[in-house]
Amino acid sequence: MSQEPSYRTIIEPFIIKSVSPIKMTTSEEREKYLIEADYNLFKIQSKNVLIDLLTDSGTGAMSSEQWAAIMRGDEAYAGSPSFERFEFTVKDIFGFKNVIPTHQGRAAERILFSVMCKTGDIIPNNTHFDTTRANVEFQGAQAIDLVIPEGKDPQNRHLFKGNMDIKKLEKLIKSEGPDKIPLCMLTITNNSGGGQPVSMQNVKEVKGILDKYGIPLYFDAARFAENAYFIKLREPGYANRSVKSIVQELMSYADGCTMSAKKDGLANIGGFVCTNDSNLAQREKDLLILTEGFPTYGGLAGRDLEAIAVGLQEVLDEDYLKYRLAETQYLGNHLVELGYPIVQPPGGHAIYIDAKALLPHIPSAEYPAQSLSVEFYLSGGIRTVEIGSVMFGSSDQETGKETPAEMELVRFALPRRTHTQSHIDYVIEVARDVYKKRNQLKGFTITEQPQFLRHFTAKFKPLN
Ligand code: F0G
Repeated sequence: MSQEPSYRTIIEPFIIKSVSPIKMTTSEEREKYLIEADYNLFKIQSKNVLIDLLTDSGTGAMSSEQWAAIMRGDEAYAGSPSFERFEFTVKDIFGFKNVIPTHQGRAAERILFSVMCKTGDIIPNNTHFDTTRANVEFQGAQAIDLVIPEGKDPQNRHLFKGNMDIKKLEKLIKSEGPDKIPLCMLTITNNSGGGQPVSMQNVKEVKGILDKYGIPLYFDAARFAENAYFIKLREPGYANRSVKSIVQELMSYADGCTMSAKKDGLANIGGFVCTNDSNLAQREKDLLILTEGFPTYGGLAGRDLEAIAVGLQEVLDEDYLKYRLAETQYLGNHLVELGYPIVQPPGGHAIYIDAKALLPHIPSAEYPAQSLSVEFYLSGGIRTVEIGSVMFGSSDQETGKETPAEMELVRFALPRRTHTQSHIDYVIEVARDVYKKRNQLKGFTITEQPQFLRHFTAKFKPLN
């Protein structure tokens, strides 16, 4: 019998049936758009972006099966069969007793924390995503990040940099008392820490500690399939397991989850909150009716529920996951070859350039990551996002003094099933050009900003 050849090229495991044109622009035009947008990339119109890597949230391509399912969507207000298919799929994969649909992830967070948290409480997480932190703080509770120290060191190549520091977790519970901690969260993968995975071992250890004190564990499961595939690739004992069975094992250690279906739900909108606690679920549904909708649609159309039900199954396909991580790694490895310092190893959904290390001549108060992301747009029409002192720093209302963020990163988030390898090759070519200009890049100053979440609307001016 002839042996199956093993080709090295990892191809996109799909063909393209429907396309959206993108518009070429000149650097002169882009300079004009930047001035009009006050150098804030959130204010650039997407039609003027060539490769949009602002986020992987809701920006991916749906499959023909998902579009077919959309036509099956039943829009009954109550008891729609689309909800049944959605609920069946979520229960099959995640295994939780109660499934409550929401319009996106942050709505699931708001409902969970409104019901479980009160003023003075403490929520530990590996790293809270910004909407998660905001929803915890909105309840008057404190959001505490307990990622392992390796998770904060961009060059450290720990394989599970999303892990929680279990010693710090136990210390926190002992010093504050378990009564102040209504739940503990783990974000899989850890988006704000570079899209890094959490190991099964760490989940079990966290669960072991929480059980001693009667504290429930919830996942922020936005990128659960990518996390499970990292476990399959990197953690001993999982190489021969299906990704679905790894997800099922992961979820078996938790009491519930929040989910943004805009990521590993492969949908353009949607989310859900799950819990095994039926009393809690009832209170969550009461709140859901107030702001999201009846519990069989929760702020979504029946067709959205159908698209998510199909997406959740497709995301477990290992050819897809292999390609997904290969695409991210391909971009990351080429940027490293060019000389870029990036958060290592490459994460699941995005590559993060360490702008503080790349641009040492621009101090944090002059936003090096903003300067780099503006240059990527100017040079090649590529939109990325600043995750540094613009997003997480703050300025004193009276003195204007800036408190910088811990890291100055530029995130290149890859929408799912959206770009071909030549798109990524183009990004790499632009990166080569930007790298040559790095010593000439200038800092920025903020000329106007709101009180909260300033990165969305702040106005900037380049410094000379
Ligand atoms: N949790 C994580 C880990 C996320 O990355 C996000 C969204 C959310 C929760 C909130 O979900 O957007 O559906 O309300 N992250 C996007 C991003 C916005 O660009 O990383 P949502």
